[in-house]
Amino acid sequence: MVYPIVKFGNPVLEREAADVAEFDTPELHQFLADMFESMYAAKGVGLAAPQIGVGKKIAVIDTSNGEKPEEKLVLINPQIVKVEGKQEGEEGCLSIPGFREQVRRPKRVTVRAQDATGLEFEKTGEDLLARAFVHETDHLYGRLYILHISALKRDLMKRKIKKLQRAGEWD
Ligand code: NI
Repeated sequence: MVYPIVKFGNPVLEREAADVAEFDTPELHQFLADMFESMYAAKGVGLAAPQIGVGKKIAVIDTSNGEKPEEKLVLINPQIVKVEGKQEGEEGCLSIPGFREQVRRPKRVTVRAQDATGLEFEKTGEDLLARAFVHETDHLYGRLYILHISALKRDLMKRKIKKLQRAGEWD
């Protein structure tokens, strides 16, 4: 099923999610399938469980937008273990629709995580994949990309969002 995406302002997005302790259950496999379905429906390249209101350390990524099944990635209890270099680029978030900002991120990122069966693995990504690794792992610790933009831009964005909330266009 496709879950609605939780928007900025909902506290679930700004608290650390809980570690996952149970693996390879039918519930987890169904939840992961639902996360991919929800991500594709929202046209995202990454989705973290808190973004559908579930406070668990689970994220899915597919930088091919569903074009290449082998690029589907599940990150459970992820940790960033290595970062190298820098990249500049626009970044957005499904939970902050309509906004995009320049965000400096590492060029190359290694994440350590568990898969759906609990098996631990490490994977290194570059460019967009590196950006997705840090963006989605941040989500699971209650951190949004707007923490990486200037306070001025962040305040402006928050004011615009408040206006949308008052107009009933942001729930
Ligand atoms: Ni996001």
